[in-house]
Amino acid sequence: MECATLNNGVEMPMLGYGVFQIPDLAECERCVLDALEAGYRHLDTAQSYFNEEAVGNAVERSGVPRGEIFLTTKMWLSNYGYEKATAAIDRSLARLKTDYVDLFLLHQPFSDVYGAYRALEDARKAGKARAIGVSNFYPDRLADIASFAQIKPQVNQIETHVYQQQKYAREVLARYGVQAEAWAPFAEGKNDFFNNETLKSIGAKYGKSVGQTALRFLIQSNVVVIPKSVHKERMAENFNVFDFTLSAEDMAEIEKLDTSESLFFRHDTPEAVEMFIGYIKGRGEV
Ligand SMILES: NC(=O)c1ccc[n+]([C@@H]2O[C@H](COP(=O)([O-])OP(=O)(O)OC[C@H]3O[C@@H](n4cnc5c(N)ncnc54)[C@H](OP(=O)(O)O)[C@@H]3O)[C@@H](O)[C@H]2O)c1
Repeated sequence: MECATLNNGVEMPMLGYGVFQIPDLAECERCVLDALEAGYRHLDTAQSYFNEEAVGNAVERSGVPRGEIFLTTKMWLSNYGYEKATAAIDRSLARLKTDYVDLFLLHQPFSDVYGAYRALEDARKAGKARAIGVSNFYPDRLADIASFAQIKPQVNQIETHVYQQQKYAREVLARYGVQAEAWAPFAEGKNDFFNNETLKSIGAKYGKSVGQTALRFLIQSNVVVIPKSVHKERMAENFNVFDFTLSAEDMAEIEKLDTSESLFFRHDTPEAVEMFIGYIKGRGEV
């Protein structure tokens, strides 16, 4: 598996398996077992997915040595602030049945970010996280935390796919030595993703599907990808992207699909903050 070398020397597999929107614990455990069997060695979960426990069970049951798996989780907003985040790290580790994660991210750029981030820094120093980072940090927020935090983030996980290629955000990440990681590398199928004619015709030249072509484009753009599927055959398909290389012309053609717009929502608006506060209140977390 190709890896990205993070700014603290940790090796992160370029392809992983994400478990967003698999809330049923038995189903999530089955999915992670299937993914590990398909060859994935990089898993992405979050406190807010409410399935860390299933991921931990699957890793344990799989028999794959823990040291061979790159495991990421994310701190949810209601746990922000130094003390709450410190306790929440230990709860995540307990649910994941491990004494360390490979990457711990702050899920959102709101609320007491610095307090929560200091808890991640301490977790890294204590060996509870091999790498730390952020998610959904737009270029200004990323520059801020990369400049003022004691430990520069290793990774920023942001919406990235062929329709939102994040060219400027990735320029800023490169400037600060922070690895780009894509969430929703298939845009969750939005915009008729899997029928895109450009991806279809380019993929056909290599005997590859739309999904494989889209993942390969991101990997060749030095973006880590974590596609999700609950179907074992699709997990295998999405994993099978390391035996071909898109030509420079094909890369340039796919670059033209970029609209530089989110297909979900921006994270730098008052409405985004209000939406997240709504979630938290709705779940009785504040
Ligand atoms: N940090 C954040 O804020 C954030 C936000 C969103 C996601 N994420 C992470 O990123 C991961 C991936 O993003 P995502 O799950 O939102 O969306 P995604 O990976 O872009 O798309 C998943 C969708 O594509 C379908 N699919 C997968 N492989 C396919 C294939 N080969 N052919 C046709 N359809 C296929 C899946 O359907 P089936 O499952 O039915 O196959 C599912 O509907 C998440 O699981 C999560 O770990 C992070």
